Amino acid sequence: MLETLPAQPQDKILQLMALYRDDPRDTKIDLGVGVYKDATGLTPVMRAVKAAERQIWEQQDTKAYTGLAGDLVFNSAMVEMILGEGYADRAASVATPGGTGAIRQALELIRMAAPHATVWLSNPTWPNHVSILKYLGMKMAEYRYFEAATRGVDFAGVMEDLARVAPGDIVLLHGCCHNPTGANFTHDQWDAMANVLTERGAIPFVDLAYQGFGDGLEADASATRMIAARFPEVLIAASCSKNFGIYRERTGILIALTDSSRRGVVQGNLNFLNRQNYSFPPDHGARVVTTILNDDALRADWMAELEEVRLHMLTLRSDLADALRRATNSDRFDFVADHRGMFSRLGLTEDQVLTLRDRHAIYMVGDSRINIAGLNARTLPVLAAAIAAVAG
Ligand code: LMR
Repeated sequence: MLETLPAQPQDKILQLMALYRDDPRDTKIDLGVGVYKDATGLTPVMRAVKAAERQIWEQQDTKAYTGLAGDLVFNSAMVEMILGEGYADRAASVATPGGTGAIRQALELIRMAAPHATVWLSNPTWPNHVSILKYLGMKMAEYRYFEAATRGVDFAGVMEDLARVAPGDIVLLHGCCHNPTGANFTHDQWDAMANVLTERGAIPFVDLAYQGFGDGLEADASATRMIAARFPEVLIAASCSKNFGIYRERTGILIALTDSSRRGVVQGNLNFLNRQNYSFPPDHGARVVTTILNDDALRADWMAELEEVRLHMLTLRSDLADALRRATNSDRFDFVADHRGMFSRLGLTEDQVLTLRDRHAIYMVGDSRINIAGLNARTLPVLAAAIAAVAG
């Protein structure tokens, strides 16, 4: 049986992780996978996470199953962190294994509810969006998003393409910190885009993987909140991997906003999907998050550390833009300081990206996406000089 299996294409981000690991050069620089690193190159366990884990270890007296939707206290704390108050009767939700799990469950829900709908993705988007949709055999289409010349949002292109969305189609939006580009809608652009989606009768599906990494915990949720307030039906897939730094715990949530009269049935469908795919969602990470969000002192400490993380990335952004300005004697890379989140797409060619890897041991995704948080005081000037050498 197993001999019939074809080889699968490798995920390019994970492939890059392996290439980096196997590179023996001690000067190598990893700007690939989206994992936060501090100034010393470590991906730390956040203080509040350690404290919450200690508390759980001391107090937890059972590991019996929770519920199919996860621990409801986690779900309501997350709904509130993302949307604010007032959504209890519109929000059905399930805990999921990470943000990817939430995306997968959302797409399966769409396939059950609207098998003929098309899911629209920004071009470019996180490659796994495309991969999961293909795997599920669902219809997809792209809307233009990135303007190569400015490395900003091609807003005219977005509006033109979204005007072709059919009623009932799903439009996947990055709630903040667009992956892979780092270019984001302004407040007014979100507003105009929401108008088009309303006119077209589309259903927004927000991927919120980086809340707190862009302009702040509240600010990064504001577009999602606007969408939630304006559309009768919204899907939101959120991840705790980045903002709580609990990547390997696989902690996420899928929220489906609906009319309060339909909430019970939608919740039942979400529970059903969890049961079919993995039964009960993982609990440890979710419990850590709940412990933090529901304890004033832990929450304040977590928010303070998250803010340090965010400001650290912003400093790296402006330092890199300055270093590139000096190294290339031009303002071509100033956009790096305007982008938000972990990533920036630099707009280098694939050949230039390969040269950076081969000659300079600098690893970035083939589309020239860099993980800003992979940089530090030592590597930042090295990157700037190398970019100037290959693209100057
Ligand atoms: C990334 O885009 O690097 C992250 O979301 C990690 C992943 O799973 O690809």
